[in-house]
Amino acid sequence: MSRIDELIAAMTVDEKIGQLVMVSLGAETIVTGPGAAHEPSVEEVREGRIGSVLNLVGRDRIRALQRIAVEESRLGIPLLFGLDVVHGYFTDAPVPLGETAAFRPDLWEATARLAAEEACDEAIALTFAPMIDLARDPRWGRIVEGPGEDAHVGSVFARAKVRGFQGPDLAHPQALAATAKHFAAYGAVTAGRDYASVDVSERTLHEVYLPAFAAAVDEGCAAIMPAFVDLAGRPMSGDRGYLTDLVRRRWGFEGIYVSDYDAVGELVAHGVAADMAEAAARALDAGMDLDMMSPAYPKALKPALERGLVAMTALDAAVARVLRLKERLGLFEAPHARGAATSPRPRPRPERRALVRAVAAASLTLLANRDRVLPLATTGGPIALIGPFATTAEEMIGPWSGLGDQEITVTLAEGIAAAFPDRRITVTAGVAGEGDDGSGIAAAVAAAEAAEVVLLAIGEPARLSGEAASRARPGLTGRQADLARAVLATGKPVVVLLACGRPLTEAWLYEQAAATLVLWYPGSEGGNAVGDVLSGRANPSGRLPVSWPVDIGQIPVFYGERPTGRPFDPNEHFTTRYVDMPNAPLFPFGHGLSYTEFALSDPTVAAATFRAGETVTVSTELANTGSVAGATTVFLFLTDPVASTSRPLLELKRFETVELAAGAKRRLDFTLATADFACLGADLVARAEPGAFWLSVGFSADRKALKTVAVRLEAEPALV
Ligand code: NOJ
Repeated sequence: MSRIDELIAAMTVDEKIGQLVMVSLGAETIVTGPGAAHEPSVEEVREGRIGSVLNLVGRDRIRALQRIAVEESRLGIPLLFGLDVVHGYFTDAPVPLGETAAFRPDLWEATARLAAEEACDEAIALTFAPMIDLARDPRWGRIVEGPGEDAHVGSVFARAKVRGFQGPDLAHPQALAATAKHFAAYGAVTAGRDYASVDVSERTLHEVYLPAFAAAVDEGCAAIMPAFVDLAGRPMSGDRGYLTDLVRRRWGFEGIYVSDYDAVGELVAHGVAADMAEAAARALDAGMDLDMMSPAYPKALKPALERGLVAMTALDAAVARVLRLKERLGLFEAPHARGAATSPRPRPRPERRALVRAVAAASLTLLANRDRVLPLATTGGPIALIGPFATTAEEMIGPWSGLGDQEITVTLAEGIAAAFPDRRITVTAGVAGEGDDGSGIAAAVAAAEAAEVVLLAIGEPARLSGEAASRARPGLTGRQADLARAVLATGKPVVVLLACGRPLTEAWLYEQAAATLVLWYPGSEGGNAVGDVLSGRANPSGRLPVSWPVDIGQIPVFYGERPTGRPFDPNEHFTTRYVDMPNAPLFPFGHGLSYTEFALSDPTVAAATFRAGETVTVSTELANTGSVAGATTVFLFLTDPVASTSRPLLELKRFETVELAAGAKRRLDFTLATADFACLGADLVARAEPGAFWLSVGFSADRKALKTVAVRLEAEPALV
């Protein structure tokens, strides 16, 4: 008998249920959800009633609790410790949306590895990341946690993060089990309001929201967290069709499902369970393994089993999956291997700081740069750094920053001072990020008038970004718009440094400012990275992973829209349009400027036709036609002009970020498989349908600027 079979044979029902219970326990816990229905105790660990713990931090505390589980509980089963290690533990990389803007899968993987090493050294074994919810609605605060609007980007991001967190061997003491979350389509909550209902079509679910999860599963992610929300009336946390039939059976997922915070108990509030026992039974039957922080499994699963609402075999299967993950993590052999280091709390190491600084610099996204105001010369007149985020650490590290240490975070004032040692820099807040107090605006205007150039550090307070931070008006908060107007009125060149977790709809500002650099929340080394880019030591290369709306009324606006029977025609009234604003976003997906220029040649294909099973290679030549070295991202889009169903006008298939010296050229080859040409038919089955396809290369999803070549798939439709 295997260890797991032996354990299950030896366990009482209470001990089995205990293995499915994940709670916050102990001193120094981080709070990431509503108050718990009961206060779990260490005694319950001894009794085997708790199998996993979340949000406890500090390796000594974790190791002490682990010792109790291993040495003092009847069966000695180790605990699984989980935490939201999202974009860093101590050393924070940019928030995921910002990091996505770098379009560098190697960096996405490297920062996950860094976070895993720090978290595992602090005795954590499971992270609730990557969050791979695509989002096309910047009202939703959690857009900051994910990879933006595109399914292909989401899939590449998911794979990189799973690889980075987990490494090649889950049993390694620095391997952090990854949780792909929140399955699925949580990013499509109604009107961007967090926790609200989701209703997207099966087609959109399969085309847009599921691919990143399928990629995470294929990459071997250890866990999946079902979303809190319902999808068209089916609350995900209790849905057997999605969790078991689709993901376990069809996709072959072998890891565990860990519920979101209280999500199993919330099946009652969703109206699909009459009481906690029904909620517990429904979730367990659906395939949910761990119940995080709800009373359902700990209090009501036993009565549910006694009432015959769910079979004992479902319990055993879930327990086996949880024990199997603990075994794969090496917890039975070496329960204290993670966190075994005896050194005092590590200070972020220089090479870690260098990595997150480089990633931050690569993620900063230059939206506009009139008259080439940037980069700033390292000598010259005074610089006025104005705005509420000039000196704040919070808006560098952003939400979900783990134990990101604000003391070691480099603020804008610090980083900019270091980048311009020979220029006088004045720092004035002007206003706070929130509130009505405009009394500091006059001082800010005086500072602007005395300067040669203004750096305006404004945006969205980090507190207003992330979970439970939906905003009906995603723009500047408090009196920041008044501050910006007053400073712009001085006539000085104003460079906006925009800290934000989502596109902020302030078109007037981006039109009037000399330049706008989106910082996102750039992480522990944010200030230094901004200094690098402002001074030209780093050339900005961030590209928007989401379309940036002109105004709230356009939301959702995304590049992958379908054709309409009445495409916009300025000379024909009865075509698709707003009468009061353009259809196009202010800045398209992929937009971002550099201090140099790039050009692409017309793409070519080796053969104009191909057959099912053959590949297609599209080639183009990229040239840096400017005068400094820089990096840019080349996107390859597919258009299927005639198919059995109406296809999006553009579908991203590949991207590559390339660094080139001034004057240098490089040939890029993108190879597509037949499956890349497939679409879901009316029956939702994927087929590559014969006929013409257009392959377009470009620097963004702006269709007018793309360069296109046609290929034709000959003969029969191919099932892929
Ligand atoms: C709720 C969030 O939705 C989820 O993303 C997170 O992992 C859990 N809380 C645990 O903190």
